[in-house]
Amino acid sequence: MDNERYLRWRDRKFGQSPVSIDELIVEVGDLHALTPGEHAAILDRCKRSNLAIYASRTIDPDMRRFGRQFGLESLDANWLSGEDGVSRIAVSKDGQGYIPYTDKPIKWHTDGYYNPPERKIRAMLLHCVRSASLGGENRLMDHEILYCLLRDENPDFVRALSEPDAMTIPERMGENHVARKAETGSVFSFDSNENLHMRYTARTRSIAWKQDGITLAAVAAIETALSSPSPYIFHVKLEPGMGLICNNVLHDRAGFSDETRLLYRARYYGRVYYRS
Ligand SMILES: [Fe+2]
Repeated sequence: MDNERYLRWRDRKFGQSPVSIDELIVEVGDLHALTPGEHAAILDRCKRSNLAIYASRTIDPDMRRFGRQFGLESLDANWLSGEDGVSRIAVSKDGQGYIPYTDKPIKWHTDGYYNPPERKIRAMLLHCVRSASLGGENRLMDHEILYCLLRDENPDFVRALSEPDAMTIPERMGENHVARKAETGSVFSFDSNENLHMRYTARTRSIAWKQDGITLAAVAAIETALSSPSPYIFHVKLEPGMGLICNNVLHDRAGFSDETRLLYRARYYGRVYYRS
């Protein structure tokens, strides 16, 4: 994006972004049948900050039905998700030790950062059925705001992170075979409508950053931004009936101590649909 367009885009972003979690929470009734006002309020938050938190009276929703109200159709099912393509995130032995299925903290990331380009995750839903009595909070940040912070600090940071070889996720081996091949790609990419996609994980294992000075400096700048106090980093604990709808923003999860915690998660190839 050239500088003139960037500055306009940036001013719009900062001008409209919420700076408190209260601005992002929308009270709704039935998740399966949102009123026009509830629907508009959720879309408004998504337009401004790529995310909204809802607080509903529906504890155990049909996630696919909820998502369809926002044009979310094409689910990314993985080998751990249920037949309906929705994952049940709980402490489970079936998770084979993958961190989401434990009670451990998860570092900052966007979902599906290991997916190939044709399976980019552009939207994600998270719904809380049962919360942990202690812990399990999320931090959230609009990845477009992070892009602006980096570009304002040094345009070379976002240039380096937009290179197609910036980040490689090494292959994952199954017992005797390659369960997922290595994926190399950029961190940042824009679509034709100037929507930004971000692939990122703060993990330090199972990731190989391009070994040049500017890429490594850019990665360090992301880490600094995500670990510094910011009005654009939101803290939330999802309680039963609450959930997140987002265009795959940056998020993390605190560890928790309650084995009954249950969240539903659905990942989509398309973005939250804005009817204008
Ligand atoms: Fe995630």
